[in-house]
Amino acid sequence: MSTTNMSPATSEPRPTYLSDYRPPAYRATHTELKFDLAPSSTRVTALLHLERHPDSSGERPLVLHGEKLSLQRIAIDGQELQEGEYRLDEETLTIEHAPDRLRLETEVDIDPASNTALQGLYVSNGMFCTQCEAEGFRRITFYPDRPDVMATFSTTLIGDQQQLPVLLSNGNPVERGELPNGKHFVTWEDPFPKPSYLFALVAGQLEKVEDRFTTMSGREVLLEIWVEPANIDKTEHAMRSLKAAMKWDEETYGREYDLDRFMIVAVDDFNMGAMENKGLNIFNSAAVLTHPHTATDAAFQRVEGVVAHEYFHNWSGNRVTCRDWFQLSLKEGFTVFRDQSFSADMNSAPVKRIEDVSFLRTAQFAEDAGPTAHPVRPDHYIEITNFYTLTIYEKGAEIVRMLRHLLGWETFRKGSDLYFERFDGQAVTIEDFVGCMAEVSGHDLDQFMRWYSQAGTPEIDAIGEYDYAKGEYRLTLRQRTPATPDQPDKQSLHIPVRVGLVGTKSGEDLTLTLENPEDQENLDKGGVLHLREEEQTFVFTGLNEAPIPSLLRGFSAPARLRFPYGRDDLAFLLKHDSDGFNRWDAGQRLAMLALEDLIAAHRNGVEKVMDPRVTEAFRGLLTTPTDDKAVLAEMLTLPSEAYIAEQQPVVDVDAIHAARTFVKQSLAGALRDEFLALYQANRSDAEYAPDAEQIAARSLKNVALSYLMSIEDDEGIALAGQQFEADHNMTDVRAALTLLVHSSRGDIADPALRAFGEKWAHDPLVMDQWFSLQVTRPQSDALDRVKYLMAHPAFSLKNPNRVRALIGAFVGQNRVNFHRLDGAGYELLADVVIELNKLNPEIAARIITPLTRWQRFDEERQALMKAQLERIRAEDLSPNVYEVVEKALA
Ligand code: ARG
Ligand code: ZN
Repeated sequence: MSTTNMSPATSEPRPTYLSDYRPPAYRATHTELKFDLAPSSTRVTALLHLERHPDSSGERPLVLHGEKLSLQRIAIDGQELQEGEYRLDEETLTIEHAPDRLRLETEVDIDPASNTALQGLYVSNGMFCTQCEAEGFRRITFYPDRPDVMATFSTTLIGDQQQLPVLLSNGNPVERGELPNGKHFVTWEDPFPKPSYLFALVAGQLEKVEDRFTTMSGREVLLEIWVEPANIDKTEHAMRSLKAAMKWDEETYGREYDLDRFMIVAVDDFNMGAMENKGLNIFNSAAVLTHPHTATDAAFQRVEGVVAHEYFHNWSGNRVTCRDWFQLSLKEGFTVFRDQSFSADMNSAPVKRIEDVSFLRTAQFAEDAGPTAHPVRPDHYIEITNFYTLTIYEKGAEIVRMLRHLLGWETFRKGSDLYFERFDGQAVTIEDFVGCMAEVSGHDLDQFMRWYSQAGTPEIDAIGEYDYAKGEYRLTLRQRTPATPDQPDKQSLHIPVRVGLVGTKSGEDLTLTLENPEDQENLDKGGVLHLREEEQTFVFTGLNEAPIPSLLRGFSAPARLRFPYGRDDLAFLLKHDSDGFNRWDAGQRLAMLALEDLIAAHRNGVEKVMDPRVTEAFRGLLTTPTDDKAVLAEMLTLPSEAYIAEQQPVVDVDAIHAARTFVKQSLAGALRDEFLALYQANRSDAEYAPDAEQIAARSLKNVALSYLMSIEDDEGIALAGQQFEADHNMTDVRAALTLLVHSSRGDIADPALRAFGEKWAHDPLVMDQWFSLQVTRPQSDALDRVKYLMAHPAFSLKNPNRVRALIGAFVGQNRVNFHRLDGAGYELLADVVIELNKLNPEIAARIITPLTRWQRFDEERQALMKAQLERIRAEDLSPNVYEVVEKALA
């Protein structure tokens, strides 16, 4: 009949504003779907039970979303609609005069096989699957595709019995049977009303592993993980993680699972990590599949975290969902906070915090300081897919963590209970969430809400003064948030600052007594200082020795804190701070001071000299026995080049690389025997387990090896070769192979690389690692390798994991080569973005990020980067890439 949206949009995409929110004119109460599945032409029949929304004015028409749908039939209450009784454009179907209650029937044809954007219904390795968040459902059928429309769903899947033996959707299977022509069907019913973004279907040749979980009220839940047959031995860890997550959510938040069945499906082509569809989570296979021989410790931990994250969404996201997409952090920030806490409980809590904060300070702070900076609750967007960001997720989680600190756990938990009870089955806002926290605590959280509306990372400048005669320490904190695009002026935030005062004589935490009773009361309640004004002084009394302050302990707020620490102070805190996170941070700060000197020396062409205090601090770490190996491994790791760059006014990639390499080699030279001993002490032949103890030992051992390899020590090279050959587990194999490939010893690395590539040619997740570790090589031939590998038969721009493994790793982790002064790295990225813009706009708009950060570099590089952005801008752009490029060039 008619076809929508087959030509590219000709007008400029227009933004959507939070302030324009209105309830929908109609809501759907029940939705019946039928899919006749065939790769190039799937017929979708939808029967929507619609009724006028009580809050809507009687006048507004019925508007349904729909994109790339070929409409075959439309009827209201059994009556076919004629042309003229409805209106179609590229994005909507409008019925001007619809009754207050109606049954709307549509039939559309869609083409999953050519869906390379991977939103809506698509085919991955012969398997049908869906990704509907945020606005993918409208590529499946005409629908009020917005999260505040919640309906029960009944879904019938019809497919070829041979090709598609497994047919899955949300809820419970209620009927199945055979049909003519070798087809069969299954009908699924989901009794929980849900928005369309939580709809899912999967069809293909899949196998499952199953298990059971008994909930706290004694109900038995069937757990299934569905994978391609070849991966059936890679599901154990995901299943174990799922059960642990279900138990944890009962014990920690009192949340029980609701359906009788919980399914996870692994697919190879997936834009993000995973999706929390009701009862049928769909995962990127990289976030489910593990095996000691194919996955590293980091991959095991990622799987644990993502499985938990998606499961936790069943309450924070599904039972209580978002009113509109501006509220995205309502579910994502809270759920990330929940999964971070879960992983901390399962593993080393301080290391989990160190990892999360490193990521936040490196990547989210950079986003907050760049042209795409946006508040945790944005007030406008062009393409919502561009807002699945570190700010919404990670900074959003930090805001929830601050609430937890301000309220204390028990009150926070009461607020969480109130939120889930009051809003169960509803689509709500961030005010609703914070409102519950204010209600249970009696706190005034109005100022705190600015964390959601104000973009940018606050800076806190601290100074302290000790008055020996009075036994007083005066700590003055000044806050300031730098301007961001659209927000020139910022207001003061309500910042929880956890502090300790470490006695310089005793090395112990001194008792904190505040002069101001209100400050003392806050400290007693939540253990934090409340910084609310632009400048505040906190007076600590009754001290009988001079303290060194330990500030923002546990990283109690997502801020940049400056304090004029001397190097000896930092070395002291590194030894004595009782806060594990700040002990690590003192070491990072000390290393940063040394690195800054060396960066300056490199730029000025002066001879580089290593600061002996850093060497001595490392010697102390290496020679003092510790029972926390996991933290030690973190402490021995130098700040990354990306983090160092974040601290620089103008990023000098070459000087950063040279300085960091120099520090690493100096330490390796001075402490060679200690590193060797550390390596030997942490070797083990025990059977692989992804437990905290083994993971800590492996990371210590591999950190030690990386120092030895930085100076290409003969014994280090021999150990790396042996570790690779021993083939004990992927963590060790990959670490050894990476170090060899990143060294100058091609004679050992090349055959190893070849053997590895041949052995694992059949396993895409291992091949992703094979691609990544080659293109992150610091030597100057890296870009040629990227080009060479892009021509490899196993490379495809259509697979997001492969794009991330090759292009993403190169542009994100190989800074010296991506930022080459001839501009070849930038040109390569722009070429990729231009291709991906046509195939997969969501991935295109993500991979482009490093180019958008041009303001941070020298003029020469700025010009080269901008030239590539201009080149991209001249293309016929998707709204996704358009939005990012326009911001970057604004
Ligand atoms: N809600 C999913 C998660 O947090 C992410 C979905 C992202 N969707 C997208 N089109 N980018 O795990
Ligand atoms: Zn999520």
